[in-house]
Amino acid sequence: MLKPGPIGVFDSGYGGLTILSEIQELLPQYDYCYLGDNSRAPYGDRSFDVVYQFTKQAVLALFDRGCNLVILACNTASAKALRTIQQNDLPLIDPQKRVLGIIRPTAEIVGNMTQNRHVGILGTVGTIQSESYPIEIHKLFPDIKVTGEACPMWAPLVENREYNNAGADYFIKKNLDNILLKDPQIDTLILGCTHYPLLIDKIRYYLSPQINIISQGKYVAESLKDYLSRHPEMEAICTKEEATRYFTTEAADKFSGAASIFLNKEIDVERIIID
Ligand code: DGL
Repeated sequence: MLKPGPIGVFDSGYGGLTILSEIQELLPQYDYCYLGDNSRAPYGDRSFDVVYQFTKQAVLALFDRGCNLVILACNTASAKALRTIQQNDLPLIDPQKRVLGIIRPTAEIVGNMTQNRHVGILGTVGTIQSESYPIEIHKLFPDIKVTGEACPMWAPLVENREYNNAGADYFIKKNLDNILLKDPQIDTLILGCTHYPLLIDKIRYYLSPQINIISQGKYVAESLKDYLSRHPEMEAICTKEEATRYFTTEAADKFSGAASIFLNKEIDVERIIID
């Protein structure tokens, strides 16, 4: 029997906070444990095996802190590590625990968002190269044309808190121009990296207002709510004291300073070492 515990939320760094805050807004009753692997972020252009090893270590660290359900609030980790963890590791670690990703819930809503069936994905090199988005979208909507663009500088701009500065404009415009050159008919653009919602004002500035921009947090939160309603045995062991604990693999004060900007509030943070 699993002991009741918080819901784990993991990202390579700060990006998953954009997902956590939407989850907390929709499901404020639960307890959460957030882990950012800031000392090893960004994950974006790391190899498949390294992302898998780092993500597995993070999931184990969250399990050790009592989580029974962990959300990989990172597209790169969802693309490169989720399947192996679900299929190979969980049966050995604890078959009752669960790890969920964020690509599938995003793919599920795309069919209702695009009018002309031309969809673009912006993501890290790892997410785009993995082809996870086209694969998941085509399982559900084979008629949608999916075009990807890797934006290797965007997550580092956010991690380094340069996202409001002029340097960010150069890289944002460059990648948006590239993807629209590949498919000028795109009417729906997925921000397929949890860091990118921090760049949304600049992204909007360089795009025609006719293009829908999909920021994942809201849909991941709705999908988690739906998951918990379909899995009452898991819902019953999610503790409900409205408390969130924050962990980072970097210095705690560094994380709390940056996270307070992302979350608009001061938080207590604990540094942990995972390996
Ligand atoms: N936030 C992560 C994602 O959603 C990746 C950023 C990175 O570590 O490169 O893909």
